[in-house]
Amino acid sequence: QFILNFITDNRWLSLLNGLLVTLEITFFAVILGFLLGFGVAIVRNVYDNTKKLRFLNFLCNIYLTVIRGTPVVVQLLIIYFVIFSSIKVDKSIVAILAFGINSGAYQAEIFRSGINSVPRGQMEAGRSLGFNYPQTMIYIIMPQAIKNILPTLANEFIVLMKETSVAGYIALEDLTRAGEVIRSRTYSSMMPFLAVALLYLIMVMLFSYLVKLLERSLARSGR
Ligand code: ARG
Repeated sequence: QFILNFITDNRWLSLLNGLLVTLEITFFAVILGFLLGFGVAIVRNVYDNTKKLRFLNFLCNIYLTVIRGTPVVVQLLIIYFVIFSSIKVDKSIVAILAFGINSGAYQAEIFRSGINSVPRGQMEAGRSLGFNYPQTMIYIIMPQAIKNILPTLANEFIVLMKETSVAGYIALEDLTRAGEVIRSRTYSSMMPFLAVALLYLIMVMLFSYLVKLLERSLARSGR
């Protein structure tokens, strides 16, 4: 009976829609977070090495402290109800901004540890070959750093994807919210939420598998 209803009354369509929304927010938020995190990591690295960009470094530290010190749900609510309270904007955009800004702070730390994981001698070697700071960063440090942080970065993607399940707080119909809507309409709760959980699980497992393949091919090219 459940299966029959599932097929005939478009429940699967709500779930599919929710799934697409979840993937969309995750994808764009991770990119926004990447750009922010990368930028912040570079600023802090430049400051650590040369003591330049003092003020920018100060701003970055505030960003990191505030974002990592408050729950992402609260940040989402503030962005939606305070910052965009009088501006009409798509809820997905709000979610992408909130989760992207949130992820950026965590990714900044990931990049920083990645840059620090490359031995100091590599920077010195690059500089003594006549490369300037940006050139050494781009051609010598970054390729090694990215490889080192790939597992952590992949993990951040997974964390972020699961984290977007709180998007229902601003009534955005992501995957979790779709399950919740089905529950409230049908009064059956087990199947909708099991389906939601299963869909998250499949996405995480699929993504982990792809990352494993990528890591293996990188390890091979590194030898
Ligand atoms: N759930 C925690 C929070 O509400 C951690 C968020 C972690 N986010 C991330 N992109 N790693 O703040």
